[in-house]
Amino acid sequence: MERFLIEGGTALNGKVKVHGAKNAALPILSAALLIDGESVIHNCPDLSDVRASVHILESLGCQCHREGDTLTVKSDAICSSQIPDDLMQKTRSSIIFLGAVAARCGTAVLSSPGGCDLGPRPIDLHLSSLRQLGLCIKEEHGSLYCNSEKGLFGTSIYIPIPSVGTTENIMIAAATAKGTTRICNAAREPEIVDLANFLNGAGANVQGAGSCDIVIEGVSSLHSVEHSIIPDRILTATYMSTVAVTGGDALIEGAIPEHLKAVSAEFIKMGCQISTKNEGIRIAAPKRLSRLKSVKTQYYPGFPTDAGPTLIAALCTADGTSTFTENIFENRFKFVDELRRLGADIKTEGRTAIIDGVKALSGAQVKCTDLRGGAALLVAGLAANGVTTLCDVHHINRGYENPVENFKNLGANIKRTDV
Ligand code: UD1
Repeated sequence: MERFLIEGGTALNGKVKVHGAKNAALPILSAALLIDGESVIHNCPDLSDVRASVHILESLGCQCHREGDTLTVKSDAICSSQIPDDLMQKTRSSIIFLGAVAARCGTAVLSSPGGCDLGPRPIDLHLSSLRQLGLCIKEEHGSLYCNSEKGLFGTSIYIPIPSVGTTENIMIAAATAKGTTRICNAAREPEIVDLANFLNGAGANVQGAGSCDIVIEGVSSLHSVEHSIIPDRILTATYMSTVAVTGGDALIEGAIPEHLKAVSAEFIKMGCQISTKNEGIRIAAPKRLSRLKSVKTQYYPGFPTDAGPTLIAALCTADGTSTFTENIFENRFKFVDELRRLGADIKTEGRTAIIDGVKALSGAQVKCTDLRGGAALLVAGLAANGVTTLCDVHHINRGYENPVENFKNLGANIKRTDV
């Protein structure tokens, strides 16, 4: 089992480059299934979640080839519309394949998806939206049997929650549906805009992505496309937390400031200097961070839920008491028990965490509980005095490419061991 050994307490300084966004790559890979030809996807991160999507594409008959950060997907010879259960279980975003498989093949068979355990993560909105496009879905023994033999038909769909995955599933399914689809109360995340740019590059007609009202005019087919994935804003937020909590100063190359306004605003309140450069974002931290009176996660452009755990890790040694409220997922605080092992003083009350800043954290053996919770422990371990052993790091590998090498480049004392 792979572990990280971290000797913390060193300020992180220098430069680090942000890789492509996991949450943009996953829906784009699913949309690649619709392309009559080749998708050349640049800046595609090499992560275990991305590899899981590639395995799904291959199981459906696509040919995938990676060279450096460019992934090429050939999808002109689809031979199956059934996704094996073990592949569906590897990542929650596998549900985004539903719209793509149904649109491409007319039928789809797949099971309910796996992914991070953040409390109940229903797929009711995905199913009801695709049903409105004319997909007939039967749910039996945990599997979904879908049929769209008469084709999918555009319509107006209101999503009661601006769900990212649901918005993406509709966009993908509607790209080649007959007629016009309107998504009301659509998610506005930058990854939605990236998906729209990929689809439009392939000949789709998607308008309004980035607003809560997206209109898709269905086209008969999508052609070969070349696309570059946007930089990962959640990885950027992780680097910001690490630099902030260790009192460092670093340039995060490639980060798009516009995507990180809500995150940067919190680090400024904590006393960090944030400057926007042509190359990315520079963050310079004070000796001790100030507390944050109240942070709340919200849908974009609000503070992102995925950047919450690493921000909480940074607040563990801030001066004073901070409160953090998680509004998107029900059970996102599993990592807090592990942070306490490092000496953090945190209470949770329902969806709120109350963090009393301590003078310093101290190293211990801790276990990653999920992807972003694992990242929070990595951030805290880099700040803690002494040695931290981080176990179950496969969670971190789902969303962070070469974390050991990248943090080492910033001066961290971290290494990988196999036990
Ligand atoms: C995506 C991101 C994930 C991020 C989340 C919120 C990807 C691959 N993952 O996940 O990293 O944490 O957005 O920014 O992009 N919901 C329902 N029914 C549904 C679907 C969602 O009730 O059918 C609820 C969820 O339980 C949650 C809320 O809607 O409370 C938002 O979830 P959603 O935006 O769909 O998250 P994901 O797309 O799964």
